Amino acid sequence: MTRGKKRQSRSGKNRRDKRAAQTRRSFLTTAWLWLGGIALAEYLWLAFEFLRPGSRSEARGASATLVVAGPVDRFEPNSVTPFQEGRFYLARLADGSFLALFRECTHLGCTVPWVAEEERFICPCHASAYDITGTVLSPPAPRPLDLYAVRIEHGLVKVDTSEPIHRRSFDPSQAVRS
Ligand code: FES
Repeated sequence: MTRGKKRQSRSGKNRRDKRAAQTRRSFLTTAWLWLGGIALAEYLWLAFEFLRPGSRSEARGASATLVVAGPVDRFEPNSVTPFQEGRFYLARLADGSFLALFRECTHLGCTVPWVAEEERFICPCHASAYDITGTVLSPPAPRPLDLYAVRIEHGLVKVDTSEPIHRRSFDPSQAVRS
């Protein structure tokens, strides 16, 4: 082989090597971009799920169980008793009936404390207020506090915390009597 032909074949091989290296580089860059995009999308989705109002209650609702609140007589009429498990208040109305009120404000989900002196729930976030039945007394809360299903068996008040019940307004039929 002449010297010219050898040089030509060597430069051809160099070009092929360069092209192969460029192809590898561009493949790796594309793969990294895809992986980065997927990781970013996953992160954004998780952040959205965490911040979405109500998401925490849904997660909790899925794993919650039946809470035995106690004997009927333990609760005075016109009283509100907090329960940590299930995050609800057991309200006994003046007529002796029961409501289990979920603690999350229906505005943006802050925990709403019962303020006994004022006989109302007052949200610390944007000052929504609810009466003992969970009815909105002052906005921005758009609807009453959610309920949990209550049943009374053998003199015991039991609260099913598996699914908060949304409602548009308070109706006496929502309250459970013994
Ligand atoms: S979260 Fe309760 S008033 Fe806004």
